Amino acid sequence: MNCLESWPEPVVRVQHLFDSGIQVIPDRYVKKPLERPGSVEPAPSEDNIPAIDMKDLYSEDASLRRRTALLIDSACREWGFFQVVNHGISHELMARTHEVWYQFFHLPLEEKQKYANLPSTYEGYGSRLGVEKGMSLDWSDYFFLHYLPVGLRDQNKWPSLPVSCRELVGEYSREVVKLGGKLMKVFSTNLGLREGYLQDAFGGDDEIGACLRTNYYPKCPQPDLTLGLSPHSDPGVMTLLFPDENVPGLQVRHDGKWVTVQPLPNAFIVNLADQLQIMSNGNYKSVEHRVIVNAKKERVSLAYFYNPRGDIVIKPAEPLVSEEHPALYPAMTFNEYRLYIRTKGLHGKSQVESLVNSDSLCRLN
Ligand code: OGA
Ligand code: NI
Repeated sequence: MNCLESWPEPVVRVQHLFDSGIQVIPDRYVKKPLERPGSVEPAPSEDNIPAIDMKDLYSEDASLRRRTALLIDSACREWGFFQVVNHGISHELMARTHEVWYQFFHLPLEEKQKYANLPSTYEGYGSRLGVEKGMSLDWSDYFFLHYLPVGLRDQNKWPSLPVSCRELVGEYSREVVKLGGKLMKVFSTNLGLREGYLQDAFGGDDEIGACLRTNYYPKCPQPDLTLGLSPHSDPGVMTLLFPDENVPGLQVRHDGKWVTVQPLPNAFIVNLADQLQIMSNGNYKSVEHRVIVNAKKERVSLAYFYNPRGDIVIKPAEPLVSEEHPALYPAMTFNEYRLYIRTKGLHGKSQVESLVNSDSLCRLN
């Protein structure tokens, strides 16, 4: 049997583990000492990812437009992570969508179990990534769904309760995908490519992938021993995250330290992911991040993954490849690429790094 057809052991919902009143977390969630939240000296608390005001991108003043594009370029090069305000998405829509997911996770277990997911597509209600028996687990549950391409969208797999969920997710998705498209244009131009280059190379408007993972991080009686999400870079093109503004938790690796993101009100956190590192031939890098949990507050975040179409070959953009700058990564489809994470779970940046100069395929043609 294909190892992605079923989970190797019964799935435990972290939320219900917490609700059972345990004071000591099971060993499966206890990280090795060097992986625990406090094992590395934290970055100074005033460190934060750059903030970008997107309204200036569309200013009548060309120098302001140019300056904003340059700010985005340096955020991409120096951090791979930034937050955007004045991004054009209704704050009310964001708040209502966040709230509806909060309510979903507080439905009775039997209701959520109707959407229990499998590792073949990961769509639905889940509590682990990876199918290795006995592997370390993270302190979170999630719901994963496809919005694009339309051929993968199946609203029957989205929660039917709360009643407004499907409609809100549809509306929210449409808006976030639009924002993603705007950023792709800016990234293309900043890389010296024509404006539509990245969007086309990743599959075009109709075939690009967009999926939502809503993360639910329950309170944790021993937050110093575990992680809500282990260190990883996102496998796709970029991620647009609506974090929980009231509960910090996301940490970004920067200069070897973990910087805790302080979100601005109504901001989206944007991070570059592995396929953009590959397509930009290493000009841009995906960045490792993780989530810590706490004893006092649960946390809900909405991560929108902007992905390449699954079956087209992704490789460094030809205009960015030359004799002095040979292709650093081999050509591969996203379906092939993400099999690794789906099988083995989250392991920092090991996958994209393992590809660098891996073999002769690294030279284009
Ligand atoms: C993710 C992720 C961060 C967060 O879902 O890939 O990194 O704050 N989420 O939940
Ligand atoms: Ni992530």
